[in-house]
Amino acid sequence: MKCFRFCLPAVFSLFFFGTSFSQTHLNLAPTPPMGFNTWNTFQTKISEDMLRAMVDSFVSSGMREAGYQYFVLDDGWMAMERDNSGSLVADPVKFPHGMKAFADYVHSRGLKFGIYNCAGSKTCAGYPGTRGHEYEDARLYASWGVDFLKYDWCNTDSLNTPEAYKTMRAALIATGRPIVFSICEWGDHKPWLWAGGVGELYRTTGDISASFAVRISRGDWTPQSVTSILDLQESIRKYNGPNHWNDPDMLEVGNGMTDDEDKAHFSLWCMLAAPLAAGNDLRKMSAQTREILTNRELIAVDQDPRGISAFKMMLADSVELWVKPLKNNGIAFCFFNRSERSKKIDLPWKDLNISDPLSGLAIHFDSEQLSIRDLLLHKDLGTTLGNFNRTLPAHSVIVLKLSHLVN
Ligand code: GLA
Repeated sequence: MKCFRFCLPAVFSLFFFGTSFSQTHLNLAPTPPMGFNTWNTFQTKISEDMLRAMVDSFVSSGMREAGYQYFVLDDGWMAMERDNSGSLVADPVKFPHGMKAFADYVHSRGLKFGIYNCAGSKTCAGYPGTRGHEYEDARLYASWGVDFLKYDWCNTDSLNTPEAYKTMRAALIATGRPIVFSICEWGDHKPWLWAGGVGELYRTTGDISASFAVRISRGDWTPQSVTSILDLQESIRKYNGPNHWNDPDMLEVGNGMTDDEDKAHFSLWCMLAAPLAAGNDLRKMSAQTREILTNRELIAVDQDPRGISAFKMMLADSVELWVKPLKNNGIAFCFFNRSERSKKIDLPWKDLNISDPLSGLAIHFDSEQLSIRDLLLHKDLGTTLGNFNRTLPAHSVIVLKLSHLVN
């Protein structure tokens, strides 16, 4: 009897959190998840008609073909109260046909469906949270056909963070439906140290904004900028990898930064092997925005199966060089001018020695010659003989893929 009471939970937790349960076994995100999320542009102002049009644009813009998969509803999809039986319900005004009908529509266009809730008593925007309802909410999501759950951290009082996320993960597993679990506690409890066995991705910082270099206050809080988030990523690169991705937050491409800044933001997120969640209005995106978001050569860098996040080297005149080891001994190089003035690069390749103990990368350009392809211009640029000469406007990047020459 004693053993029944005490051993069963132990066996249960071993199954879910021990050797039988791990992200590797589920393998739901062998490469960083790619999709769209409503929050950055719409916050809680969402409705079924508008979202159906967005799903259509997701497909007609070529995003789906470029590899984006998940259509995720963030905060604001629920009615303000649970129903009499304690179930969450979709806001009947925003979703007159209910959530299952909308999920079916997303699936009918060849996409996967994601939804949002929160570990606390209420979501960050004040809708009903999941605390105390983990298993019933998970069953409801599974019955709707949810494929992805973003799980936030507002109104959690004294909840233990890893335990709260493990509980929800167990609830998702218990449904029998494969559901990607996106942990969103803003990096407050160092999720890179414990979330790798719990969620497929975990936010590493507070919320992003469409500001490139400056953090602009919004009264009682100050969101991050692109570069302030970037600066927090390198020290945790070793925790990144297949099925456990550091998540530097969703994209602000197409949301008001300059074209160079959008290119830099997207390229740097690809260099980090970050999840790519577009956050712009897909119905109205400009040709430039679409070109950035669907740049397959950059997406291939992000989705490289090794899943290694880039490291940084400083070059002369404060230009940063981010380096990402790729499959087949390939390497992605991202020259990044974060200053407000344009900078000239004149780099003798042979002066560059690169080594990265984490990935085993070691290149001596004085004794090895590699071919160069520019991933933003989609052009081959010869080899690493001689010098690399280019001018980088303010807040811009040059992204190259270097490959060993085939003999
Ligand atoms: C938090 C999250 C955001 C978004 C909002 C919704 O701030 O970090 O990404 O989900 O909540 O309220």
